[in-house]
Amino acid sequence: MATQDDLHGVFGGVVPEIASRRHTEVMTIVVDEALKQAERTLGDIDLIAVTHGPGLEGSLLVGVSAAKGYAIATGRPLVGVNHLEGHVMSNFVAPCLIASGGHTDLILMRGFGHYQIIGQTRDDAAGEALDKAARVMGLGYPGGPAIEQAALSGNPAAISFPRPVVKNSLDFSFAGLKTALVRYVQEDGLETTDGGVADVAASFQQAVVDTLVRGVREALQEFPVRQMMVCGGVAANTTLRLQIKQLEKTTRMPVVFPPRDLCTDNAAMIAGAGYFRAYQQGPNGLDLDVFSALPLAEVD
Ligand code: KG4
Ligand code: ZN
Repeated sequence: MATQDDLHGVFGGVVPEIASRRHTEVMTIVVDEALKQAERTLGDIDLIAVTHGPGLEGSLLVGVSAAKGYAIATGRPLVGVNHLEGHVMSNFVAPCLIASGGHTDLILMRGFGHYQIIGQTRDDAAGEALDKAARVMGLGYPGGPAIEQAALSGNPAAISFPRPVVKNSLDFSFAGLKTALVRYVQEDGLETTDGGVADVAASFQQAVVDTLVRGVREALQEFPVRQMMVCGGVAANTTLRLQIKQLEKTTRMPVVFPPRDLCTDNAAMIAGAGYFRAYQQGPNGLDLDVFSALPLAEVD
């Protein structure tokens, strides 16, 4: 696998030009390596599924162009996949919290392709807040895993950060919490408690987790469903997984997560979603376009 975390770590976030250039460099190498690891050849592939949004257009274009090339070379059909539908399929079934770097959405899923957004962030995504917080604390990028690691030896009750609530709504808001952290670090520094940066990381992580858990709890109260699922990069977080799992005790509703390595962006989830999308609507033509904003299709 090729990861750009080190490359972007220097800048504390994804730099669009660097990302797409690097994608061009490693695209065929990664595909070859994936085929090798799976002990398959291009001839074994039945369908080419590719993310065509939402995201950075430069990077999306590299992926879509490569996918068109593979489709022509293999004579196999091509299908464009919504990145968020990919996350949903990393889990399959039921209502879903998607918590990633770009999105924090509560979705009611009545079947593949049938989504109703019942809550979303009004400002920053949970992952975005974690990334910003880690940058301010000097913990590196991506922020979620860095904060999780730093928090291991910290006290989550050491500092009381806000748990922002959007009244009468299942929407989230993380900007206020992020600003509280930035202000805390600027005014008080990182060594105000015995645990130092570990306490700040643990307390901030706890505030993010509490906010997400509260959203899920309220969604489950409002929409009695058979099962809840949680996905997206932030769903790899162990504290979040443990606390959301606790909800099962009171709701008596199973809560499921993808395995940790299927939470953060991966090709398997896009392949899974691509399979169902092609089955449902047929493949796309070579005029498949990319979209920096691509809402999940809302169908009641
Ligand atoms: O879904 P994803 O891999 O990419 C997007 O579609 O955005 O999510 C990336 C986000 C980043 O903000 C990253 O900091 C966060 O997921 N993340 C985590 C963990 N691993 C990744 N957040 C908390 N705990 C983690 N272990
Ligand atoms: Zn993602």
